[in-house]
Amino acid sequence: METSDTRIMILAGSPRPGSESLRVAQVMQRFLDDQGGIAPQLLDLAQLDLPKWEDEAADHETLALNTLREAADSADALVIVVPEWGGMAPPALKAALLALTNGEVAHKPVLLIAVSAGIGGSYPIAELRASCTKNAHLVFIPDHLIVRHVEQQFPAHPGDKTADHQRLELRVKSSLSQLITYARALAPVRPTLARALKAYPYGH
Ligand SMILES: Cc1cc2nc3c(=O)[nH]c(=O)nc-3n(C[C@H](O)[C@H](O)[C@H](O)COP(=O)(O)O)c2cc1C
Repeated sequence: METSDTRIMILAGSPRPGSESLRVAQVMQRFLDDQGGIAPQLLDLAQLDLPKWEDEAADHETLALNTLREAADSADALVIVVPEWGGMAPPALKAALLALTNGEVAHKPVLLIAVSAGIGGSYPIAELRASCTKNAHLVFIPDHLIVRHVEQQFPAHPGDKTADHQRLELRVKSSLSQLITYARALAPVRPTLARALKAYPYGH
């Protein structure tokens, strides 16, 4: 990684090992790697044994919290891949966002990507946009993506790609470019906003 690389943390937000969210996150990592000048770091929520809330943290859980917080702290931007579960974002992802309310992600741009086995995906986008930024101070960018019928998207073999697959890929790359533009634009504003963050960490 060059020191000038834009660092992007990709959080696969399903607590299910081998999830579709993880597969989509890996595709995003590959697209970002292909761009050049970007240092993507993928974290799989299924591999992080996060506590539901911090006061219950045991030693191994503290390690998971540190891993998450260090990755978030060193990032310039985030991609959060969120599966729709019961019409919601999984509680494990909310627990991860709860852990990132100490300035680690403050004023950093976020691209949300919802995934659904069917035609869902809008609820977790609405939920995260509405309620997950007050204390984390995340900046959700205008674009978001919903990957429907996720198991049929992003085929592993290039020969299996249809025109629809190619259209989706172009759309995704456009949103990733938007995220990178915001990442570079917002990096210099964070020191200016640090004082207000310290004065009003919980928004009031
Ligand atoms: C507990 C649970 C609840 C789910 N509820 C929904 C839902 O409300 N809407 C939906 O579109 N898909 C739902 N799904 C299917 C997911 O969209 C599907 O598992 C998809 O692969 C994304 O989840 P994953 O990243 O865990 O694989 C649910 C899956 C699980 C395991």
